[in-house]
Amino acid sequence: MSDDALLQRIRLSGAIPTHVAVIMDGNGRWAQGRSLPRPLGHAAGMAAVREAVEACLATGVAVLTLFAFSQENWQRPADEIAALMSLLEEYIEREMSDLRERRVAVRFLGELDRLVPSAREAVDRIVATTAGGDALALNICVSYGSRAEITRAARLLAEDVAAGRMSADQVDEEALARRLYTAEWPDPDLLIRTSGEQRLSNFLLWQLAYAEFHVSPVLWPDFTRQHFFEAILDFQRRDRRFGRVPV
Ligand code: IPE
Ligand code: IPE
Ligand code: MG
Repeated sequence: MSDDALLQRIRLSGAIPTHVAVIMDGNGRWAQGRSLPRPLGHAAGMAAVREAVEACLATGVAVLTLFAFSQENWQRPADEIAALMSLLEEYIEREMSDLRERRVAVRFLGELDRLVPSAREAVDRIVATTAGGDALALNICVSYGSRAEITRAARLLAEDVAAGRMSADQVDEEALARRLYTAEWPDPDLLIRTSGEQRLSNFLLWQLAYAEFHVSPVLWPDFTRQHFFEAILDFQRRDRRFGRVPV
């Protein structure tokens, strides 16, 4: 089906998700299937990031949160990590002006202190350059682990209580959520994971409490904006009950 036909169907099918989160998985298998080194799969995955951003801009998704590199991924071979870090810098340099023109505000979530200095500088540059973009909030999770994020929030709460800035009985779900990296955005409505894997791999454990899951067999570098549109259509067919009885 063409882009226009899919967009028309989405428009006729009800509410679109405000916030979409994506576990971009399958780059290594994409490369291996072509007898290429794994980093070439990560390089090919950059085109799919562009497709996802375009799909969000075309449909009006307000927030897109991408899982690019997990804390556990630091355990991969050093050459693969180095390739991923230089691809991150390449992505930033290549896309920065286009994202700014399209009013996409880019943010990075994770333990950014662990990045090499040049990657850290590139991250700061694109965040500053695109700040204020109001068409799409693009969050890229790098060196990100959800348990670490929740633990950090708990530590921040403990510090506030210890310093007398709040009392223990003011510690509620909202207070904790305000100390997560995602504080300013609503929880994801839809989670997409590519490459057929059916697990969270320590991604947004708190925020995905009521997200709808769409698992696609497609490997991330092959995931086009049409696949993204199909995921939105799948979401629109779901009956979200949030624990209540159907009305
Ligand atoms: C996802 O692709 C990208 C990262 C985790 C950095 P993978 O590299 O996990 O690809 P597979 O799962 O090995 O195919
Ligand atoms: C999750 O994918 C992390 C990212 C996509 C960045 P992994 O490939 O690292 O997850 P596992 O190891 O299959 O659970
Ligand atoms: Mg993987």
